[in-house]
Amino acid sequence: MTALPGSLLPDNATVSQGGSLAVAGCDLLALAEEYGTPLFVYDEDHMRARCREAVAAFPDGVAYAAKAFLCQAMAKLAYEEGMHLDVATGGEVHIALAAGVPAESLVFHGNNKSMAELHAGLSAEVGRVVVDSFDEIDRIETVVGEGLAPPRVLIRVTPGIEAHTHEYLQTGVADSKFGFSLAGGVAEEALARAERSPAMQLMGIHAHIGSQVFVVDSFVKAIGLLAPLVQSIDASEFSIGGGLGVAYVEGESTPSITEWAEAVKAAADATGIRSRILAEPGRAIVAAAAITLYRVGTLKRLKGGRIYAAVDGGMSDNPRPVLYGSGYEAFLPRSVEADRHLSVRVVGKHCESGDVIVRDAAVPEDLQVGDVLATPVTGAYGHSMGSNYNMIMRPPVVFVRDGRARVVVRRETYDDLVRRDV
Ligand code: LLP
Repeated sequence: MTALPGSLLPDNATVSQGGSLAVAGCDLLALAEEYGTPLFVYDEDHMRARCREAVAAFPDGVAYAAKAFLCQAMAKLAYEEGMHLDVATGGEVHIALAAGVPAESLVFHGNNKSMAELHAGLSAEVGRVVVDSFDEIDRIETVVGEGLAPPRVLIRVTPGIEAHTHEYLQTGVADSKFGFSLAGGVAEEALARAERSPAMQLMGIHAHIGSQVFVVDSFVKAIGLLAPLVQSIDASEFSIGGGLGVAYVEGESTPSITEWAEAVKAAADATGIRSRILAEPGRAIVAAAAITLYRVGTLKRLKGGRIYAAVDGGMSDNPRPVLYGSGYEAFLPRSVEADRHLSVRVVGKHCESGDVIVRDAAVPEDLQVGDVLATPVTGAYGHSMGSNYNMIMRPPVVFVRDGRARVVVRRETYDDLVRRDV
């Protein structure tokens, strides 16, 4: 295996004369020293550039899907760059509002919003509510009946297509917990109810076919299927959701946000959709912006030949390999351009064998205990899906820009671990 492909690194990654990696002018080994490991390092300008690309590509409006990675600094960054925020729970609404994002910039998702969440969202006057079920329509009617303003809503429709991605990440198939299915006239019925209801202003239709989708054709197909419905209500808005994939490992490539938008808009035009075209990417904004830094604590060479490299994090900071069998690359920031001829299994420190970060990682042959080992493309659904399993403290998040690092989420402490005990 040759050196790590540079395309998997953040935009502002540079290699020093000595061969070590810096991001936005901050040396990764120095960051590991200063802030400890595990550590999430995000290239701030990389994310800003992706936000701007999305805003230019979807001029009618585009939301950052906060579930991919959220903290107040991230909410603020996306909003500053002109994005709305897709928030899927009361907790995500809370973080966005705490960060100073105006409620009108929030798109409120969720397949099982509670009365309390709807109350909070409608009281704050969120910009859009994406309605997911008949029960939710009932609940919105109740909440509005208590005196809150009728929200602007999109009806979430499942077009019944299989996007090319992991089964757990498919959301557009007919057999789904999400939305109203196009099949059997369910979506039509939901639209008719929303149109009739004085408790909501129907703005249009929403569809999200899945996540980590590599082929724009899946989106094109969805648009083709949904077009008659969109036209039937003369929808002023049509959201294609998120889902654009990113490359995680050598050899993968994906369309850019701009290419995705072009395909979506062309398909909408071709099918006679005249609505404003909206989207809500998450992964494509943040995934490749971040690198996770770990420290290698143990190298175990088994008789059969396998080498286990155990690091100081694991499934608690990146559950994706365990959940979806997702692949990652690994490299040594001290020699990022080195050939990687040693095959190791990078594992964490949790008490289970499934705690794998990279199943078959290629690393330089001189890998040693004490090395900082890094995994690129960890900016989406790592920190946000992290846990305290085994009472491991969640890592801090550092944003780097113009040679400076700032901690935007501090490391958890042992005190944090007992804070909620009563
Ligand atoms: N809009 C809706 C309604 C969504 O449900 C999602 C993601 C997005 C937008 C953003 O999708 P993205 O552009 O990030 O693909 N935990 C999984 C991904 C789950 C995605 C859930 N919904 C993973 O780690 O791959």
